[in-house]
Amino acid sequence: MRFDERTAIVTGAANGIGFASARDLAAQGARVVAIDCDAESLERAWARLPGQSSKPHLPLTLDVRDADAVRRVVDEALDACGGRIDILVNSAGIAGKSCPSWDVDDAEWQRVHGVNLSGTFHMIRAVLPTMRSQGYGRIVNLASIAGKEGNPSAAPYSASKAGVIGLTKSVAKEVATDGILVNCVTPALISTPMNEQVSAQHLEYMMARIPMRRAGEPDEVAALVTWLLGPLQLLDRRRLRHQWRPGHLLADRQVPCHARSQRTGHVPPRGQYHPQSVTPFPSRPNPRRRICRDGLLVLPMGLGRIGRR
Ligand SMILES: NC(=O)c1ccc[n+]([C@@H]2O[C@H](COP(=O)([O-])OP(=O)(O)OC[C@H]3O[C@@H](n4cnc5c(N)ncnc54)[C@H](O)[C@@H]3O)[C@@H](O)[C@H]2O)c1
Repeated sequence: MRFDERTAIVTGAANGIGFASARDLAAQGARVVAIDCDAESLERAWARLPGQSSKPHLPLTLDVRDADAVRRVVDEALDACGGRIDILVNSAGIAGKSCPSWDVDDAEWQRVHGVNLSGTFHMIRAVLPTMRSQGYGRIVNLASIAGKEGNPSAAPYSASKAGVIGLTKSVAKEVATDGILVNCVTPALISTPMNEQVSAQHLEYMMARIPMRRAGEPDEVAALVTWLLGPLQLLDRRRLRHQWRPGHLLADRQVPCHARSQRTGHVPPRGQYHPQSVTPFPSRPNPRRRICRDGLLVLPMGLGRIGRR
């Protein structure tokens, strides 16, 4: 399976996107350390994770705002999982109150930033030394479209999620040559318990901006999260440098039309792409990469350019 031999920490794992991501990782062979501040829900969620019999998952109660507790819990996870942490999904988050910015008090501002931004930072800081010493790591942070667009009546939330995007890009650049990929996703409205924190008016505002006119499902976001956490050899610069040979670079997943041969129009089978059609280190901006960045994903790593020279 895709995540066999991988240990994954997922925060906010008791509900919504965190639970869906933890469940998908477990279903694909990962050992999951499920973290949440809500002990009761966490216990219930943990019991529903697949693969317990062969690989017991670990439920740990933690408030990600508490930096010392985060360090302790990550150490505990390391002890229990043989000293490896391969994956971190930062999904713990809160929406905060729906109200105009002039009605936001200091406590509310700090509460929302404490969970969404500081919590994400605490977790990243705690796992990076291990990931760097392993020379391998995958981190996905849950940001939000609110961090890119700025939602009215959600200033603390929008600002904290913009912070998560900046944090993601900054850390990604620091560790890009250490075998560690750091990304974030920026979903719009998703059907999860979080929406109970938000006013009906605010939900209506968000729904009106969704072209499909429906909320997303946690499973849909989890599929994207696990894709980003998967074995994307194309994104791993060290592997590219040392191991790149025509023919195996694109074995993982690509859009066939981009690999169409310039001369013959022939689409080669999976894993046997024409060397001319692959440029691992792009000299020009990749239009597909821009689409990703301005759409749902932030992909700060150097994506290989696929297509015609
Ligand atoms: N649901 C949406 O519409 C939506 C849209 C965009 C982004 N997001 C983001 O996705 C992430 C997951 O959201 P969700 O919709 O699954 O929410 P959710 O409320 O269903 O789950 C969030 C989980 O985080 C936990 N949590 C809250 N504060 C915590 C803390 N201090 N320490 C540890 N755990 C804590 C909660 O107990 C809960 O189990 C959040 O970061 C959220 O901002 C959600």
